Amino acid sequence: MDWVKVCATIDCLPGEYKVVFDGDTAIAVYNIDGQFYAIEDVCTHDGGELAGGPVDGFSVECIRHGAKFDVRTGEALCAPAYTPTVVFPVKVEDGAVFTRDDRN
Ligand code: FES
Repeated sequence: MDWVKVCATIDCLPGEYKVVFDGDTAIAVYNIDGQFYAIEDVCTHDGGELAGGPVDGFSVECIRHGAKFDVRTGEALCAPAYTPTVVFPVKVEDGAVFTRDDRN
């Protein structure tokens, strides 16, 4: 299974995010205080995109109806989402960030 390059680390600074695709899977990668976290860019409430929603600590909010998810675990933190979103592995190598959908 191949890693997918997200970007150079300098192109995703703390507080920023990037979205990449591994096949058909949209993966949102967040830099929070220098650590990278990757979750599926899909809200489990009704399929909204999570990327671009407000980030507060490790929580990212879906702008459609306000569900929040923990980027570390994928856990749904509040209604109207009850099912976790998927977490993907992240690695930093040679100054770049990589992730992958290891379900494929
Ligand atoms: S689609 Fe995300 S809260 Fe409804």
